[in-house]
Amino acid sequence: MEAIVSSFPVYFDYQVQFTHGLFTKENFLLAEVIQQSIARPSKLLFVVEQEVADSHPMLPTAINDYCQYHGLRQCGPVLFIAGGEAIKNDSRQLQQIYQAINEHSICRHSYIVAVGGGALLDMVGFAAATAHRGIRLIRVPTTVLAQADSGVGVKNAINYFNKKNFLGCFAPPYAVLNDFDFLSSLNLRDWRAGMAEAVKVALIKDAEFFYYLQQQAQALSQRDLPSMQHLIQRCAALHVAHISGNGDPFEFGSSRPLDFGHWAAHKLEHLTTHRLRHGEAVAIGLALDSTYSYLAGYLAQSDWQQILTTLQDLGFALYAPELSQQLENLDHPLNIFHGLREFQEHLGGELTIMLLEKIGQGKEVHAVDIAVFQQAIALLREQSCKQVPEILSN
Ligand SMILES: NC(=O)c1ccc[n+]([C@@H]2O[C@H](COP(=O)([O-])OP(=O)(O)OC[C@H]3O[C@@H](n4cnc5c(N)ncnc54)[C@H](O)[C@@H]3O)[C@@H](O)[C@H]2O)c1
Ligand SMILES: [Zn+2]
Repeated sequence: MEAIVSSFPVYFDYQVQFTHGLFTKENFLLAEVIQQSIARPSKLLFVVEQEVADSHPMLPTAINDYCQYHGLRQCGPVLFIAGGEAIKNDSRQLQQIYQAINEHSICRHSYIVAVGGGALLDMVGFAAATAHRGIRLIRVPTTVLAQADSGVGVKNAINYFNKKNFLGCFAPPYAVLNDFDFLSSLNLRDWRAGMAEAVKVALIKDAEFFYYLQQQAQALSQRDLPSMQHLIQRCAALHVAHISGNGDPFEFGSSRPLDFGHWAAHKLEHLTTHRLRHGEAVAIGLALDSTYSYLAGYLAQSDWQQILTTLQDLGFALYAPELSQQLENLDHPLNIFHGLREFQEHLGGELTIMLLEKIGQGKEVHAVDIAVFQQAIALLREQSCKQVPEILSN
């Protein structure tokens, strides 16, 4: 019998918008996004991160008033969920979302509007993508990292088996609405952490953007909002352009340029039991892979030095003691190079990591020299003794 072969393209589009005062009545953005798409009023379930609501006490009332004013069909009260990485490790919050979806009969034509940091968006995104095989998700990211990077992409996940993002899916959001006003309540660590993703994408794709970050480093570290708005807009644009324009939005291949610096970062987050924020770990991962690129002869010394200095000027530490843990003992689970193996496992197939050829241009390699990486770690440790150490605590 002849095999039946089926092949069909699937089209996605979604918008990433930038605004202030998203839930003020005068702001029509959310109402328009919803009204654009429907012939009949659809249901909306709001999930808001508790820490965000605590810092913006008028938010729940503003959401209710907004829905009433714009004739949006809000279902049930706003659901408050704790934020931070812990919620990706604990299935109770996920259950709570499924529970609310079931209770309020949220269907595939309804919307979940998730307001929070990257961790909450990853978890709610996973719930939205899996309940009824996919409910429309509108993300309202509230951290720098989520507005510039994690919230604008197509991935959703929770942690499992102690492994980051072990359970997850590719599911593009319906829309992403970035409201810069949320950034006012971030503490300095979370304000800063997201900037590491901007340095990352600038280093591999956009030299001009890197020099902007270099120039504005002081203003950015002192919470200058206009500079941060530019950083977020450019970083988000580069991420979205990569996802939609490189022919592999769902990462079937082994090439993952946007994961520059991330093999070590993911391992460091784990080794430090999340003492380091994702962005803080990424900054160290960038410093490490840039140093390796320099030592391996791919990257000029002056570029290498500019990268380290810019990261430091933005307020990042370049080293964590966990990098050197069991450094000679490659089989030890606390050895950082386990991260390389896990990275390869997660991607499937051959090892592919992004290094740097020059500022603004990455270089993919399929093999690395661990001895050179060990040298890179020693260099960063030395360098970190010279700088005023960053105190990283919970
Ligand atoms: N899906 C993706 O493509 C992708 C990409 C990169 C990172 N991520 C994930 O994103 C997560 C990190 O995101 P993050 O850096 O936003 O961290 P986060 O969500 O843990 O938030 C950091 C802290 O800020 C608080 N917070 C959030 N918004 C706030 C606000 N407006 N005011 C005051 N406090 C606020 C949170 O409660 C938390 O304590 C990680 O889980 C990471 O794996 C996902
Ligand atoms: Zn990242």
